[in-house]
Amino acid sequence: MNKNYDDIYRLAVAARANAYVPYSNFAVGAVVILKDGTVFSGANIENASYSLAICAERATLAAAYGAGVRKEDIALLAVVGNTATPTAPCGACRQVISELMAPDAEVVLFNMKKDKKVLKVSALLPFPFDKEDLTYE
Ligand code: THU
Repeated sequence: MNKNYDDIYRLAVAARANAYVPYSNFAVGAVVILKDGTVFSGANIENASYSLAICAERATLAAAYGAGVRKEDIALLAVVGNTATPTAPCGACRQVISELMAPDAEVVLFNMKKDKKVLKVSALLPFPFDKEDLTYE
C-alpha cells in the first residue's frame, strides 16, 4: 500500500459526508485501508434511541469484516471529525479496534483542519481485554 496522508485525509473527509447525525450533528468519517490498497468507508449512524448510535470507526470495521476482511489484511484505520485536535476514538471503539486490527497496525486521526496524529493500535488501547482472557484456565 502506497501511504499518502493527503489522500487518506481526503478519503476520510469524503466518508464523513455520509454521516447520519440528526441528533448530535457531529459527523465523523472513517476509512479502513487494506495492505493491497482496497478502501472501506464508513461514518457514524445515529438513531432516535440515542444510545444505539454506531460510531464511524465501528461502522467501517464492520463493513470490512462483513466483506471478509480480517486483521492481517488491514494496513490502517483513519478517522476525521471537526474537533480542535485530531478526533479521538471513544473507549468502546478502542476496544473493538484492538480486537479487529493487529496491535502494530496504524490508526490515523485527523481533524477538519488536517491536524494529524498517527499511532499504533497498541498505543490507542494499552492492556486490552482480549479473547485469550475468556479461556484462561
Ligand atoms: N463518534 C464517532 O463516530 N467516532 C468518534 O471517534 C467519536 C464519536 C460519534 C458518535 C455520535 O454519533 C457522535 O459522534 C457524537 O458523539
